[in-house]
Amino acid sequence: MVMRDPSSILAAALAARRAAYAPYSNFFVGAALIGRDGRLYTGANIENASYGLSMCAERVALYTGISAGQRAFEAIAIAGPDGVTTMPCGACRQVLAEFNLNLRIIFIDRGQLKMTTLAQLLPEAFTPQALNDAASPNNIRGMR
Ligand code: THU
Repeated sequence: MVMRDPSSILAAALAARRAAYAPYSNFFVGAALIGRDGRLYTGANIENASYGLSMCAERVALYTGISAGQRAFEAIAIAGPDGVTTMPCGACRQVLAEFNLNLRIIFIDRGQLKMTTLAQLLPEAFTPQALNDAASPNNIRGMR
């Protein structure tokens, strides 16, 4: 289970949302990611005049954690605009799956804190395991 109270992780996501740079969509998102050691990493979405280069809050939080040396994550909380149930986009699900398919996902739905897992949001995920499997000595392609 999560090492901190899920509501405190959500509170960190809400606080992180204040730094969102979203002048194009006006859709402000904050995320807070907790490591297995209890360390917290936050992020907010960062948009760009070249729209496609915009980055989600979840990936900003994850990359902040990764670049601080963290590799083991327990849970992520997402806070979108008030009253909007905001779930991680497909790209963020894939990027988060690199590190823990059992990651807890904390979000707000109609004012209530809810929790699910990344495995539920991204079934049959493609993970590093597939690459390990391909490199196995029993795999002819892996032997080339
Ligand atoms: N966004 C996030 O940061 N996280 C989500 O879970 C959904 C979408 C951002 C991307 C873009 O800056 C804006 O919200 C509208 O899509």
